[in-house]
Amino acid sequence: MTCVIYLEDSYKEEELKLIAQDLNFELVQEYPQEGSFISINEAGLYFIDNAKIPLDNLHIDFLSGSMGWRIKRSEHETLLKKTLGKTKDTLTIFDGTAGFLSDAIIFLSLGHKVIACEQSKILYLLVKDACNRAIEELPFLSNLTLLHGNSLEVYKEQMDIDVIYLDPLYPITKKHILRAGNISAIKNILELENIMDMADTLFTEFKELNYKKIILKRPIKGEKICSNINYQIKGKSTRFDIYI
Ligand SMILES: C[S@@+](CC[C@H](N)C(=O)[O-])C[C@H]1O[C@@H](n2cnc3c(N)ncnc32)[C@H](O)[C@@H]1O
Repeated sequence: MTCVIYLEDSYKEEELKLIAQDLNFELVQEYPQEGSFISINEAGLYFIDNAKIPLDNLHIDFLSGSMGWRIKRSEHETLLKKTLGKTKDTLTIFDGTAGFLSDAIIFLSLGHKVIACEQSKILYLLVKDACNRAIEELPFLSNLTLLHGNSLEVYKEQMDIDVIYLDPLYPITKKHILRAGNISAIKNILELENIMDMADTLFTEFKELNYKKIILKRPIKGEKICSNINYQIKGKSTRFDIYI
């Protein structure tokens, strides 16, 4: 699978040239007829997984849609709040699996600081673009440090982290295939970037490091990765295994 960067009407040409250089992708001026591509317009950066179905694209927006709704009512995010426990302190949370930043944004909107790390450069760029567009309306984004890299390595350079949050990719089951749209887009992006997803070992490797608390998000029926869980917070389809 290859990916190109589509330059439409020279809009933000310099920005796209830098992205193309950074990713080592080709910059094209003709609308791609097949494959995946990255493009930009007034609404921001897009990843189109399949040129034949351009509407099925990946574009991150914290101000509208389901994410906008979740942020507006973040006080109702009882599961994520419970994982942090009752605290009036501002916590520093290390999100080692940033993805679309959906969970991290809820932690930020609850008043915490987040250092979020994403291994995919494409996802990192999509999220960074979404943050730049939303910063004026969501001032809590100033408490976010967004980094690109392998979170295991990046974590070792951090100090005073209260919580490590991990949400590795779940295997896509037949039952969840329809709801797995964004997750399968992440898988395609990782494939494009030749990134081996080490979801199985990520938690066990973090567990070997120094930490105060690890929150591991799992499918509700997913098997325990490690037996000495301190406690669990359970929702309908998701559970959080907490290690202290
Ligand atoms: C299921 S998604 C996370 C979704 C995220 N919690 C959200 O709310 O949008 C998992 C993400 O973790 C990233 N990831 C997995 N292992 C990583 C690592 N070692 N370092 C950085 N990112 C990693 C993957 O690239 C993927 O984007």
